[in-house]
Amino acid sequence: MSSDLEVYPLASAVGAEILGIDLAQPLDAGAWEIIETAFHNHCVIFFRDQVLSPDQHVEFSRRFGELQEYPFVKGIPDYPELIEIVKMPEEVKNFGAGWHVDMSFEQEPPLGAVLHGLEVPPVGGDTMFANMYLAYEHLSDGMRQIVDTMYGIHDSHEPANHSQNYKGMSLHGKEGMTRKYSRHRLFRTHPVTGRRSLFISPDYCMDIEGMTPEESRLILDLLEKHATREEFTCRFRWQPNSIAIWDNRCTMHMALNDDLSARSGGNGFKRVMRRSTIRR
Ligand code: SIN
Repeated sequence: MSSDLEVYPLASAVGAEILGIDLAQPLDAGAWEIIETAFHNHCVIFFRDQVLSPDQHVEFSRRFGELQEYPFVKGIPDYPELIEIVKMPEEVKNFGAGWHVDMSFEQEPPLGAVLHGLEVPPVGGDTMFANMYLAYEHLSDGMRQIVDTMYGIHDSHEPANHSQNYKGMSLHGKEGMTRKYSRHRLFRTHPVTGRRSLFISPDYCMDIEGMTPEESRLILDLLEKHATREEFTCRFRWQPNSIAIWDNRCTMHMALNDDLSARSGGNGFKRVMRRSTIRR
């Protein structure tokens, strides 16, 4: 089986598509080694034409590590570790629309996620990824001094705000959900590759410790602009049954909010994705 696998980089900085495998079948050691190596080399890997039941999604995700529930979104029936990310045709706001590191408001943000496209629009609704190793490695010496010494404050925002958005999604209400904060260095070191990466998460990290809100805003905006330079990113075009698996420890991502029809008051596209989150 492993002899059939082919890995094709999607962009020079980040992302590779892997062909020649059916993830619904048990993986042999050789195939897993190719997948794991591509994951570490390219930070995000993609597969096409994968028909996975919830059980198969969970089983494949567990190859990467133990799974965790998403704090503000309910799992699908019988699978608390699988959530559905839904954008209804009339919605102008979509889940995951700004650049972010998943759950960076946690003390230990997850290792990564497996996202399966169930119903995807014929055009639009792509996902973008940024390589945060490159973002760190290409900082100026002066900016690296700031990044190497400062801490970012990450905030989940009010749980109630989550539950008011995203009509098609099954969100937890206010009950039992508390707002979460964490404090992280502006860089982190990957536990497997040993490489340093920039650690910002614009949706959640709004402040730098010891700086005024204005100073924080200036620096964080500069860092976001730097980290999302075209040459550090890739853009993934979904088809039904495509899969994306990202390493949340060295990337940021965003779900593009490009539904022009919905934004113009008309009927736009529906998009349904199923996602597992890998704790570590
Ligand atoms: C997410 O941030 O998990 C959403 C990504 C997507 O829907 O493309």
